[in-house]
Amino acid sequence: MFSQLISTKDLQRSEIEKIFTHTQKMEKMLQEGRILTHMQNKIMAALFYEPSTRTRLSFETAMLKLGGKVINAIGMDNSSFQKGETLHDTIKTIENYADLIVMRHPEIGSATTAIQATNKPFLNAGDGAGEHPTQAILDAYTIQQAQGNLDKLTVGFIGDLKYGRTVHSLVYLLSHFQVEFIFISPAELKIPNEIKKYLDDKGLVYQETETVQSVLANLDVLYVTRIQKERFANQAEYTQLKDSYRIDANLVQQGKKNLSILHPLPRINEISTDVDNLPNATYFQQVKNSVPVRMALIDLALNH
Ligand code: NCD
Repeated sequence: MFSQLISTKDLQRSEIEKIFTHTQKMEKMLQEGRILTHMQNKIMAALFYEPSTRTRLSFETAMLKLGGKVINAIGMDNSSFQKGETLHDTIKTIENYADLIVMRHPEIGSATTAIQATNKPFLNAGDGAGEHPTQAILDAYTIQQAQGNLDKLTVGFIGDLKYGRTVHSLVYLLSHFQVEFIFISPAELKIPNEIKKYLDDKGLVYQETETVQSVLANLDVLYVTRIQKERFANQAEYTQLKDSYRIDANLVQQGKKNLSILHPLPRINEISTDVDNLPNATYFQQVKNSVPVRMALIDLALNH
């Protein structure tokens, strides 16, 4: 089992299933209100050099529920990067304080740079527009709960497929299962070529389109994403694309009865609030699952 997780590309199907089984044990402990103590001598460093609400707080909650302790570094401005320190030196420092490092950083590839500096357990919590593997694991776990399995599904991804790191990680993860992919985006925000090549090499089926209406009837899952404002070099392009899609209750009700609507959150306006009370809305279940999934990931990374 892994102790450092950078990309879902590196996970085997058997490992994903093992994480899910471990997550179920964590869920049971949470339901029973049991307090764990076996992490009481362990410290997790949560390094968040980009904004975060759910990922940082659910990682912290997960470690606290496991009985462990947390230290934090939040924001570039308050860290030694501001003085010109390299990421390598920062990680070489933190590894002396913590048993596990969780890091979010604005640059693609930063998680790989970090593990070149340490052998300590490490979880990538988002490297720029690259990947966000722990989010993808909790997304897949949620899909499995909602749909009963991860095989024989048609999964649509809509929105910013170019910069949306959760999309990249979830596509790699679902490529281990019998999934058909439909990528719905404006031409400017298409899924990266390297991901299409990865699917081609594995012989997996996907299609690309700009409109959801034409494919809606086929979908079991619609994974909606925010247009990633912070990744645009040209803000005029963002302004032009920011309202590309809006999923509302009327649209959802034209899809399959058990269509699951997911979103990693935060949402801006791409899902109307009138979807929230439909049985199809699955995004707050993703939030709920984030704690037991991250408990499982921390436990497995520290006890691999
Ligand atoms: C996502 C992220 O940070 O990539 N959010 C999250 O971790 N739940 C998605 C986003 O910011 O749009």
